[in-house]
Amino acid sequence: MRKKIVAGNWKMNGVQEEGQKLTSEIVNMLRDEPQKDVTVVLNPPYVHLHGVNKLIAGVKNIHLGGQNCSDKASGAFTGEISAEMLASFGAEYVIIGHSERREYFRETNALLTEKTKQALANKLTPIFCCGEPLEIRESGTHEDYVKNQLTESLFGFSENEIKNIVIAYEPIWAIGTGKTASAEQAQEMHAAIRQHLAGKFGSAVADEISILYGGSCKPDNAREIFSKPDVDGGLIGGASLKSRDFVDIIKSF
Ligand code: PGA
Repeated sequence: MRKKIVAGNWKMNGVQEEGQKLTSEIVNMLRDEPQKDVTVVLNPPYVHLHGVNKLIAGVKNIHLGGQNCSDKASGAFTGEISAEMLASFGAEYVIIGHSERREYFRETNALLTEKTKQALANKLTPIFCCGEPLEIRESGTHEDYVKNQLTESLFGFSENEIKNIVIAYEPIWAIGTGKTASAEQAQEMHAAIRQHLAGKFGSAVADEISILYGGSCKPDNAREIFSKPDVDGGLIGGASLKSRDFVDIIKSF
């Protein structure tokens, strides 16, 4: 059975009090309305990690993650945060290669391999993001584009390593735009991703890898998207900042 995962990506939102309030609300709601089969991951900005970790301590099925990590282990890299630091603050997951990192910070497929290595070496589960921009979708080459992202970044890993990676498919044209991929479009790409992974690592391994959908996922569309056979959950941006919406998405399985 593949893990069902709903991860919230807060991006650069929320001062300390807001982060604490949001986390407390989510914890309380999930206590009252437990969803035992779903792994919930909160990915706040770095400065919130300690505070959020304290609030989720002892709550089953809620885990902590970073939004990014350095490709280096340590050293003179001002402003960077290592995977080891994240792990030492209680993180178990880290988002790698979000399209905003690729676009605004020029993160390449090769750099993302190094970040993934750092995450795995520190026992963090990478949530590895892939996804095509609008012009690629319109040209009809989106499957090849996404497969190439995965090949270049992840195909040097072993079967045991890849099993510990979660993939998030996030079409860039659907992120923060209110325009979601249809459940059929998500399923089509998720199946293509799984098949691509199977071609390299074998279908038994590919069948174990959770593939999340991200891009304007909301309480009113999550149920349909999550019902698709190759969709194992979601990476949620905007809606993860509203406790009620986030918990309703978690309850959409
Ligand atoms: P969104 O963001 O849900 O606000 O579209 C998703 C993401 O970027 O992870």
